[in-house]
Amino acid sequence: MQAERDIPHRELKLSVKQAEALGYYDFMSYLGVPYYHVGGLISTKKLAELCRIDSAKKVLMVGCGTGFSACYLAREIGCEIVGIDIAELSIEKAKERAKSQGVSDKVKFRVGDAHVLPFEAGTFDAVITEFVSQFLDRERAFKEFTRVLRPGAYVGINEMYREKEIPAKATKEIAQAEKIIGEITGLPFSLLSSEKWKEELERAGLKDVNVRMYKPIRYLQETKYMAEAMGGTWSFVEYLIGTILKMTKYYLLSRKIRYRFKRLEESKKILLRKKSTSKYVGYVLATGKK
Ligand SMILES: C[S@@+](CC[C@H](N)C(=O)[O-])C[C@H]1O[C@@H](n2cnc3c(N)ncnc32)[C@H](O)[C@@H]1O
Repeated sequence: MQAERDIPHRELKLSVKQAEALGYYDFMSYLGVPYYHVGGLISTKKLAELCRIDSAKKVLMVGCGTGFSACYLAREIGCEIVGIDIAELSIEKAKERAKSQGVSDKVKFRVGDAHVLPFEAGTFDAVITEFVSQFLDRERAFKEFTRVLRPGAYVGINEMYREKEIPAKATKEIAQAEKIIGEITGLPFSLLSSEKWKEELERAGLKDVNVRMYKPIRYLQETKYMAEAMGGTWSFVEYLIGTILKMTKYYLLSRKIRYRFKRLEESKKILLRKKSTSKYVGYVLATGKK
């Protein structure tokens, strides 16, 4: 289903100093970046299916960013969604998005930390993360996810993985990419093997843990989905122009922001484009039942 017209960046204008002071994800949300997870909306939909999400379900999306996936699922499936994230500006953007897409009745957003979820035990029919659990203290967070689930409900994660047995040179370069992402986000970041993801979900007491591995990415197909989810080609083009202009402005005016982009590109190249390293990396859609 197509969105009403998505308005991802109603204007708030920040000075270069203010933009530099933002945390990485708040800054990217300010620029208008809709989402980050590697499998895109195709994997969002797949993960929802794997977690048996339908229109009667109440879903928690942890680390929801600017709420793109949450609004998408609310429109596609009709489920109720609560999104939380530690990045305050991202949550503001998420609220605007829900309003502009006409799903504020179904999707609620609030600031919150994955390690101490502000919800009663047994509140949700599914808990989802997309490109978030990689940044967390999973021993604490997965226990929290399990606590807030109803019995028989699913945790579902869409996160990157790296293969276990890989040549020393590739191991070193992937470790370098992890270090860069940790440095620019200010969050600890690690890529786990699929075996390790399974182990960590089981350690939280989840049953029937199933980890499915995928390789990224069909860019063209994903771009089509993204454009549809933004309300069509013109909204997408408007978004691209707005984001590129803003990005260029801060890129030109701030050495600090230039440095961040440069480092980000280095890590993306290692993980997603360079053949000798990216072939050992992919994403998992993993589920476990309470
Ligand atoms: C790579 S982004 C992914 C955002 C979104 N899930 C997506 O797919 O685009 C990681 C998100 O996790 C959030 N995050 C990191 N640590 C968190 C924590 N402890 N609690 C809640 N959110 C967190 C960040 O603020 C950021 O929005």
